[in-house]
Amino acid sequence: MNTVLITGATSGIGLQLAQDYLAQGDRVVVCGRNPIALSEFDNVGDKAETLQFDVTNTAATVNALAEMRSQPNIWIFNAGNCEYVEQGLLDAELIRRVFDTNFIGLVNSLQAAQPLFKSGDQVVVVGSISSEVALPRAEAYGASKAAVSYLARTLQMTLAPKNIKVSVVYPGFVKTPLTDRNTFEMPMIVSAEQASRAIRRGIEKQSAYIYFPARFTSILRLIGVLPYRWQNLLTQKLLKG
Ligand SMILES: NC(=O)c1ccc[n+]([C@@H]2O[C@H](COP(=O)([O-])OP(=O)(O)OC[C@H]3O[C@@H](n4cnc5c(N)ncnc54)[C@H](OP(=O)(O)O)[C@@H]3O)[C@@H](O)[C@H]2O)c1
Repeated sequence: MNTVLITGATSGIGLQLAQDYLAQGDRVVVCGRNPIALSEFDNVGDKAETLQFDVTNTAATVNALAEMRSQPNIWIFNAGNCEYVEQGLLDAELIRRVFDTNFIGLVNSLQAAQPLFKSGDQVVVVGSISSEVALPRAEAYGASKAAVSYLARTLQMTLAPKNIKVSVVYPGFVKTPLTDRNTFEMPMIVSAEQASRAIRRGIEKQSAYIYFPARFTSILRLIGVLPYRWQNLLTQKLLKG
């Protein structure tokens, strides 16, 4: 039986992962800010521990993990947010908010969790396929996820001698409250159930890189090897609206 810690487990992909790990008999440590969503796990008894903290707050994140009773062997760092930049009009506050949650939030979570990592543990970092090619309006989100991807790939090397495997997840579009706000067409969007299945399968296989859905992420990865000028033309065609 695994004990799986999941940040951002009160909604979307993280919530689906928590429910699915519970359903397959594992224990979960459910992390998030929303107290009502966290209390939904009260009725599963000692199969779930809930931790309420804001990943952008270093002290709160360190304290929450230091007080955790469980000993996870799978750590899924999934908390994240998305805000788009309109017509290239940069807004430092918006970019700071996105980086604070997606990148500094990940750093805070890793800093808090690192003293608890054991040989054989698996660390899973949820990035985005948007980090692999420049996408329209994703100046803040894509850049934050590129930083996430770089950090995770570096950790793959530095944690390997401690026998800790790091997987990086590159999802395409997934139907969640985060993408329900989008007004543009999202090609080949998948459900949170499909996302959870792909991530759990990747973790089970100890895959270093988990891409899904296969067709959409393959197209973007293929575009990603072309000259930048061609990349921009093709991604604008793929993501209209
Ligand atoms: N949906 C997609 O198409 C897609 C595609 C690529 C990558 N992703 C990535 O997948 C991850 C999950 O996204 P989702 O679509 O499932 O989004 P979601 O439904 O909006 O869920 C986001 C989760 O992150 C938590 N969170 C956000 N800010 C937080 C903070 N400051 N402190 C603690 N927790 C915080 C939220 O919990 P609380 O509100 O309780 O704090 C919530 O549980 C994100 O990293 C996202 O970038 C999603």
